[in-house]
Amino acid sequence: MRRRKPAILAGTGKLEITGVKVMNRLDGKRAIVTGAGSGIGRAIAIRLASEGARVALADLDTEAAESVAAEIDGETLIQRSDVTDAASVEALISGVVSEWGGLDVMVNNAGVGAAATVVDTSEEDYDRMMDVCVRGTFLGMKHAIPAIRESGGGSVVNMSSVAALVGIADRALYCAAKGAILAMTRGAAVDHVGEGVRVNCIAPGTVETPWIDRITSGYDDPEEARKNMQARQPHGRFVQPEEIAAMAAYLASDESASVIGACMIVDGGVTAR
Ligand SMILES: NC(=O)c1ccc[n+]([C@@H]2O[C@H](COP(=O)([O-])OP(=O)(O)OC[C@H]3O[C@@H](n4cnc5c(N)ncnc54)[C@H](O)[C@@H]3O)[C@@H](O)[C@H]2O)c1
Repeated sequence: MRRRKPAILAGTGKLEITGVKVMNRLDGKRAIVTGAGSGIGRAIAIRLASEGARVALADLDTEAAESVAAEIDGETLIQRSDVTDAASVEALISGVVSEWGGLDVMVNNAGVGAAATVVDTSEEDYDRMMDVCVRGTFLGMKHAIPAIRESGGGSVVNMSSVAALVGIADRALYCAAKGAILAMTRGAAVDHVGEGVRVNCIAPGTVETPWIDRITSGYDDPEEARKNMQARQPHGRFVQPEEIAAMAAYLASDESASVIGACMIVDGGVTAR
């Protein structure tokens, strides 16, 4: 585990939210974000830090996590972590607890997807999606919840998707993986609410991250695929990672004290139709 105290000010990312005063709702909180090296995880790590949290950035890609940490003006930890590996997840959580004396917020964000129908999905892709998304969220909660409980209570934020709520063409197994995260979130929320641990999830629509490029590059016409993905958002654009990060910060903060077992939809209207 590497410690970092950079002097560079946190970037606010691409989305300009004017007229919003940055709050310090997370002062004193100790947070872990998995998959913090890219896309949504990056934006969440930056937002939690900008609201006062100390953030541990966990990713398979340590270099990427380090470059995100360099954008943060605050105390961070960087840990190479594989969410599918119990020993790796345990080491992440015990490392944070020993460095910072406890854990208040766990964001289980790391995930992978593949574009295919049930018929065309390979067993390898099935295993990969279930491993990273479902097993990763399971292991993250299994090891973080006791640490949060011992720290006096806090918040778990899992990353589901609108794919858990509606059928999306070419994403059947991804829908299944994200549906499992939603169901696991509700079950865990009921189990741990009495211990002061709130468990919720976020269901983003299509968010503009490197993930989109990877998915569209698998199509014959990537630009056409990109336009189609954008067009299926009723507000006519991709959701920005910073918009998901704003929801994660709310769920991590005590402002959401009565939000328990919820699925917070940030999808530009996809599920409103
Ligand atoms: N981008 C979207 O449109 C979208 C929509 C809904 C939900 N989501 C979910 O949001 C989360 C983040 O997506 P993103 O678009 O930012 O993806 P991304 O590919 O940009 O980033 C994912 C990060 O997770 C890391 N990662 C992958 N496997 C890992 C593992 N086993 N252990 C630790 N880290 C690992 C990667 O190295 C990467 O840094 C995922 O759970 C995804 O399913 C994304």
